Amino acid sequence: MKKRALITGISGQDGAFLSQFLLEKNYEIYGAYRRSSSPITWRLNELGIDGDVKMVPFELLDYSNILSVIGEVQPDEIYNLAAQSFVKGSFEKPIYTADVDAVGVLKVLEAIRVVNPEIKFYQASTSELFGVPKEFPQTETTPFYPRSPYSAAKLFAHTITINYREAYGLHASAGILFNHESEFRGIGFVTRKITSSLASIKQGNLDSFELGNIYSKRDWGYAKDYVSAMWEMLQQEKADEYVIATGESHTIKEFITLAAASIGFDLEWSGEGVNEYAIDKKRGKKIITINEKYFRPSEVDMLQGDISKAKEILGWEPTVTFEQLAEKMAVSDYERVKNGKRLV
Ligand code: NAP
Ligand code: GDD
Repeated sequence: MKKRALITGISGQDGAFLSQFLLEKNYEIYGAYRRSSSPITWRLNELGIDGDVKMVPFELLDYSNILSVIGEVQPDEIYNLAAQSFVKGSFEKPIYTADVDAVGVLKVLEAIRVVNPEIKFYQASTSELFGVPKEFPQTETTPFYPRSPYSAAKLFAHTITINYREAYGLHASAGILFNHESEFRGIGFVTRKITSSLASIKQGNLDSFELGNIYSKRDWGYAKDYVSAMWEMLQQEKADEYVIATGESHTIKEFITLAAASIGFDLEWSGEGVNEYAIDKKRGKKIITINEKYFRPSEVDMLQGDISKAKEILGWEPTVTFEQLAEKMAVSDYERVKNGKRLV
């Protein structure tokens, strides 16, 4: 019989790649989307799998809905990818973020405990938990120091996942995933904002764009690589926590340089702080400026993961380099723009 997976956050980046990965493993996929919206399926569409996922309305705020979805679907595995996932947005909606990203996860765990404690559970934890990292690189045992309502909520979700494992014997794992990007990344995150804006400028649809802090460093990998680690975690005899990363850390400015060069821009940077800007040398025009409104009240300056445990136990390693990632995303958005697609 086919294994059945319930993926929350099906309309997001990871939901799309995980669906594709599990369909290749012959799973039956139930994709949980927000009841209040019509399902956003452009990512599943572009992957050519929208017809292969059974969509179920699902709301992390609503325990009765979660209980009935899990009861009706009776999945073997649940991948909880749904979240209010914008760090900056969490400063604007801290209570909503906590309701969804913290208590919402507890609701899913409680529903599993009530419906069928044999269901395996994956929680989307995050490198944001490290905030101001106490050591470099970060491992599963590095102390946490959340720097936003988002990461504080994810810390509750992380620890309650472990608690339900220890208290009730659930097979509940948490992947501490570092930033992972792709051509399907949400357009509000910095990498995709950069590649979509550069593509629009190149096509003549946009003059310039603004960014915030371009000197923070992230450990950036390719999302398609990362979803296989989620599945590997649920195939282990024992549930556990794993850091999933590349081990390299780069600034946003480095990403801009690589992405821009891969679609033919030659950038020159000048100025400092909020007065810094980039000129497109070929056209002699200012195309990137800095605006304080994109700064965060408290920033995470640098993240870098150590994947020794995932390598050893899951046999997991990333395959796409930072340079390849920037190029892949920039070229993909430029192709979309050239083909007249609206960037979403
Ligand atoms: P994403 O593209 O922002 O997708 C988030 C998903 O959650 C969307 O499908 C969204 O639905 C859904 N959602 C939001 N609020 C919900 C609610 N109240 N009830 C039900 N569904 C809700 O995020 P992603 O990049 O795929 O990331 C997946 C997960 O991994 C998230 O939990 C994120 O916090 C975590 N994570 C991501 C990264 C990363 O670098 N990508 C790293 C570490 C951890 P709508 O489409 O309707 O908004
Ligand atoms: N979004 C955004 N927009 N970020 C900007 C901008 C801008 O215009 N300008 C500079 N940045 C900086 C942010 O200040 C941050 O330091 C960095 O770019 C990355 O921001 P995001 O792309 O929004 O991602 P994030 O690192 O805050 O969070 C992502 O990764 C986490 C894992 O570490 C999200 O996917 C989270 O859900 C995830 O947990």
